[in-house]
This record gives sequence, C-alpha cells and structure tokens, in this order.
Amino acid sequence: MNNQVFRFDFKTYNSIEELEEQDAYLLREARKVTEFAYAPYSNFRVGAFAKLVNGATVSGTNQENAAYPAGICAERTLMSTASSLFPGVGIDTVAVSFNNIRGESNRPVSPCGICRQSFVEFQQRTKNPIRIILSGMEGEVYVIENVENLLPLVFGAEDMK
Ligand code: THU
Repeated sequence: MNNQVFRFDFKTYNSIEELEEQDAYLLREARKVTEFAYAPYSNFRVGAFAKLVNGATVSGTNQENAAYPAGICAERTLMSTASSLFPGVGIDTVAVSFNNIRGESNRPVSPCGICRQSFVEFQQRTKNPIRIILSGMEGEVYVIENVENLLPLVFGAEDMK
C-alpha cells in the first residue's frame, strides 16, 4: 500500500488593491460583466474575464433558462466564446467574480465541477496552463497558477487512447 498526497499552493490577497495591475484589471472587468449575466432564477450573477495568449480579451457570464439544466455557467460561456473567436488560442489568465443579489459577495467562490473539467480540457488542448483569479465583488482574492490543481486525478482525452 502506498499513501498518496495531493497538495497545491495558491496565493491569497486581502483585496484587489494588492494585485499586480494586469490581474487587477482582469478582476475589475470580471466584476463589471456580472451585470450582463442572465440569472433571473438564481439571482447569482457570475462574470468571467480572460486575457488570451494572443493578447485578446474575452468575457462570459452565466446564462440561465426556465428549463434549469439548459443554463450555462460564466466560465463555459467564456471558453466557448474564446474558442469560437480564436480557435486553438490558450487562455493566459481568467478572473471569475460573482454578485449574489440576495446574499453576500465578499469572498471568492470556485468554479463548479463541470467548469473545472472544461478548463482542464481547454488547457490540455491549447497546451497552455490557465491561471485563475477568484474573488467576489469585494474582499479576498485567490490566485491559482494552474486550473488542473482544482481537479486532481482528472479524466481527459489521454485516458481514452
Ligand atoms: N455559476 C457559474 O456561472 N459559475 C460558477 O462557477 C458557479 C455557478 C452559475 C450557474 C447558475 O446560473 C448560478 O451560478 C447559480 O448556480
């Protein structure tokens, strides 16, 4: 028997003021685009804003539906947009924020499991690690250097060979 351990380092900051300007810009924009979410059912507006490796920027927001499972998260909206406008181009850094209209938005939340799976495939196929910045509309910020950290023992295209 072998005992295996997963660990990963990530950085936490007390607020957006402590970030480098480029990261602060991405988070400011992610916070702004929460406005464009269509979230009448959850009232939980999520915004994502990314810089691609070619320097372009793209955004995404959650888009819900009366048939709930038809809704899509902000992160996958962003990935679909990036991949449609700039096929094959990697994401350098993505910032994700949220505005919880009925509650608090002062701490980071992490992407859901489906978005983690999608992020990992996106970075594997573009061969470029995705940095992710997480924060609410105010307060603490997390910076994680590689989205694969969020999904240990991931299932991917390689496993199907
Ligand atoms: N949501 C996102 O857009 N991203 C996340 O990382 C978590 C959840 C959306 C899905 C749904 O529209 C609403 O937030 C509440 O779950």
